[in-house]
Formats: sequence, structure tokens, C-alpha cells
Amino acid sequence: MTAQLNARGDVAVLVPAAGAGLRLGPGGPKALRLLAGEPLLVHAIRRVAAADSVRLIVVAAPAAEVEAVRELLAPVAPVTVVAGGAERQESVSLALAAVPAEIEVVLVHDAARALTPPQLIESVAAAVRQGHPAVIPVLPVVDTIKEVGPGELGPGEPGPGEIVLGTVDRSVLRSVQTPQGFRHEVLAAVHASADGALTDDAGLVEKAGLPVTCVPGSELALKITRPLDLILAEALLHVRSP
Ligand code: CTP
Ligand code: MG
Repeated sequence: MTAQLNARGDVAVLVPAAGAGLRLGPGGPKALRLLAGEPLLVHAIRRVAAADSVRLIVVAAPAAEVEAVRELLAPVAPVTVVAGGAERQESVSLALAAVPAEIEVVLVHDAARALTPPQLIESVAAAVRQGHPAVIPVLPVVDTIKEVGPGELGPGEPGPGEIVLGTVDRSVLRSVQTPQGFRHEVLAAVHASADGALTDDAGLVEKAGLPVTCVPGSELALKITRPLDLILAEALLHVRSP
């Protein structure tokens, strides 16, 4: 059944979905790869559409798949589909261009975080609504993190090795997820002057000297990146039905 979006909502969600999914291995664009029989993008959009504040969803699809993605999502939720670009940042800019000025809160959410709960979308939107210009969901870092530099391997071992330079204080580190939320004018301004290819939009806001506020993330918002992540996501679908 097609979800209805909230015509009185104040949030647009941009969904960059134009990546190749190289780290997932051979098999076509990641957003169209199957998880429990359905494309990752379908899982992602279903959850975005279930968030009450969402008025508009703009998907940046692989350029060759725009029509296919429109057809795929038509039964799921009303979405605008645009062609994405060569870098994630470009895909986000192209999607942002489809958002009308009167929508004040814009979220950017990776299609690859296909199991993100609607509640996380709402909590990021709520923090932006409270006046924070940029909001990101974060989780503590679980592994011990080392800083390394070039070093020698043991005698007889081929190739260059690495040596530990130090141990980073993990208590001040966070893993960053999406959706990342912004005042519309803030995201538009930083994208208009963006030059590089940062992997997150909040990084652009940091570079502009504006505060970026953290809210608690969700383990269900994991980014499906490598083959093992697909197996984990499928298991999560069965045990938690997120
Ligand atoms: N993305 C995009 N346009 C690009 C590159 C990435 O819209 N040119 C999107 C991806 O579709 C994904 C999100 O940005 O939803 C996060 O990117 P990532 O997880 O790196 O996905 P891919 O780039 O597809 O994967 P890989 O880096 O392994 O090729
Ligand atoms: Mg990538």
C-alpha cells in the first residue's frame, strides 16, 4: 500500500541512492540490491515515509536507473526521483535543488542505512526544529583506536608494514550516522560553496564554523557497506522486525 506523506509536515528528506556499492562486491547499484527479497531503497523509503513530520522525499538515483526507481517506489510512497552525481555530495546537491523554499527542515539520509527507524528521523528533525542549525545522530566508538604510520614488517615479510604511533582517547570519539538534519538555508549555503567530496554533510557545516549538535543514534541505522552488513541486516529484520 502506498504511504501518504503528511501535507502539513515541515521536513524534506533527501535520500542519496546513486552509489555503485563497490565495497558490497559485484551485483549492481547498492540501493537496488536485495535485502530479504526487496531492494535496500524500498526498505529505506518505507521507514522515511513512516516518519510523521516528512512532507517531501527526494531520491537521488543512479542516472541510468531514474525511471526504474520511480516505478519501484511508486507503490511504496510518493517520492521525487532525480539523477544523482559522481560523488555523494553532488547527489545531495542535485536532490536539494528539488526542495521548495518553504520547507524549513532538510534531512539527508543514506539509502544504505535501510533499517533506520522512523523515530530516529523524528528525533533529528525535532532537534533542528528546536533551533540547532545542524544535527547528527552518533554512537560511541566500541573498538580501541590506534594511530599508525609506515613501519617495517618482520624479517622476511614482503611489503610495507605499519607501526603504532599512539592510542587515541576513545571516550571523545563518536561514529556518525544519518539522517543528518539542517535548517534548509544552512544546507543550501554550505552546498553552494562546497568544493570537495566530503562523506557527510555536517562536515561542510563544521567547515563553515557553525555548531553541529549530536543526538543519540541507533544500532539499526547501520550503513550497509560490506557483504557481512547485508547478512547482519537480514538477521536484524528477522529478530527485531524494524
Ligand atoms: N551515494 C550517492 N551518490 C554517489 C555516491 C554515493 O548518492 N555518487 C549514496 C549511496 O547510494 C549511499 C550513500 O551515498 O546511499 C552512502 O554512500 P556509500 O555507503 O559509500 O555507498 P556507495 O558509494 O554506493 O558504496 P561504495 O563506496 O562501496 O561504492
Ligand atoms: Mg561510496
